[in-house]
Amino acid sequence: MTPEPRRTAYIETYGCQMNVSDSELMLGTLAAAGYDAAERPDGADVILVNTCAIREHAEQRVIGRLGELKRYMGRDTIVGVTGCMAQRLGPRLLESARHVSLVIGPDGYRALPELIDGARRGQRVTATEFDLEEHYEDFTPRRFDRVKAWIPVQRGCDYRCTYCIVPTTRGPERSRRLADVVRETEAIVSEGMTEAVLLGQTVNSYHDGAHDFADLLRAVGTVPGLRRLRFTSPHPNDFPDRVIRAMAEVPSVCEHVHLPMQSGSTAVLRRMLRRYTREGFLDCVARLRAAIPGLALTTDVIVGFPGETEADFADTLSAVEAEGFDDAFRFKFSAREGTPATRMPASESVPDEVAGDRLERLIATVRSGARGRNMALLGARREVLVEREARRGEAMMARTRDFKTVLVPAKTARPGEYLLVELTGTTGSTFTGAPVRERAALPLAG
Ligand code: SAH
Ligand code: SF4
Ligand code: F3S
Repeated sequence: MTPEPRRTAYIETYGCQMNVSDSELMLGTLAAAGYDAAERPDGADVILVNTCAIREHAEQRVIGRLGELKRYMGRDTIVGVTGCMAQRLGPRLLESARHVSLVIGPDGYRALPELIDGARRGQRVTATEFDLEEHYEDFTPRRFDRVKAWIPVQRGCDYRCTYCIVPTTRGPERSRRLADVVRETEAIVSEGMTEAVLLGQTVNSYHDGAHDFADLLRAVGTVPGLRRLRFTSPHPNDFPDRVIRAMAEVPSVCEHVHLPMQSGSTAVLRRMLRRYTREGFLDCVARLRAAIPGLALTTDVIVGFPGETEADFADTLSAVEAEGFDDAFRFKFSAREGTPATRMPASESVPDEVAGDRLERLIATVRSGARGRNMALLGARREVLVEREARRGEAMMARTRDFKTVLVPAKTARPGEYLLVELTGTTGSTFTGAPVRERAALPLAG
């Protein structure tokens, strides 16, 4: 008797690193249930789309893609929608997309294999309960990236920024136990990985009941064999000196912080319910820079939030200039159903052309600041970790500790390898680098 062929599952991931990490967990639990990972949707027995709800545009992409995926479906293919949009829309998704039989929110992945079996028997199911104990502790993730490991340390969010859908889609904040995070870090090191990225929506508010984020950085950062530790995204209000000291003192913690500012105007920040002022943000950056020499900073900025005036936007531009961000993700405000920002008076909404114009001016300001700083780095030497083949050309993509992208010649580099390079050129945002051989100490003439 020939054994039954293993089934295959394909996952397409949208949104943030938390979703990437969740997809790795889903593929892990599916592997344990007898599925092989498929690289492409055609021919897969199960197709999952792990979705993002952060902006309307993100959802529209998924709706379009769900329609396209129909063409890859065989007679028995199961299509499921998971993640934040699944949580947000729930049964509405089943009604609007007849070829979808599963809608599963971020806390429902434990039941994935059974839910797929049910779908095969014809059931169409929504699973969107939050489970405040759920960290998928017993899952073994099947990682996409072999060089750096995404390690979730916190799920959900207890902030209530007025524009943001995440508290609705991911539920209340909860932290994993420190010992479990350390165990996962030891596991990735034993698999040959040397960089870990700790994940949480406000990752530095981490608290497992006994340990805070400073304890976590010290414990994870000193796992033998781990060379680089990063985290994303921290909230400016959760950087007590204890945490900054741990960042400065643990050698593996990299000199880069992605610190979302959102706006440089205190009035806008107040309406966003970010819980800090312009000065509070500047002070946080000053404390980080004072403790960590050579710190690189990146950020997120939203333009066109309801009520944002030209003067408010000028405050954002001046903060971007003053902070010297190395890069910024820039977003046009997108109204999300059910969030407090949608209840602000219509007269306050910023016309799309105005928001678009501000976005362009913001992009120009960010680019010119980054270009100046990057030009000044030409000739400097940096240690890079080689990540993967570059999208174009005969080069490998590598990163410095301060998160600069460096292209190095393919023949000198393998993924996972550390090289010392000289930064020889820059586009303004990314670099090219030439490996340098550190001069071996000459034997003393005797
Ligand atoms: N938890 C993270 C951010 C998660 S969302 C934090 O608080 O820093 C990633 C980014 O998307 C946010 O920083 C914000 O800049 C942007 N964003 C979130 N909601 C948005 C909305 N409704 N419209 C436009 N941008 C939004
Ligand atoms: Fe959203 Fe604010 Fe929570 Fe970040 S901190 S996920 S922006 S509510
Ligand atoms: Fe998107 Fe959900 Fe992440 S809304 S940004 S995938 S937490």
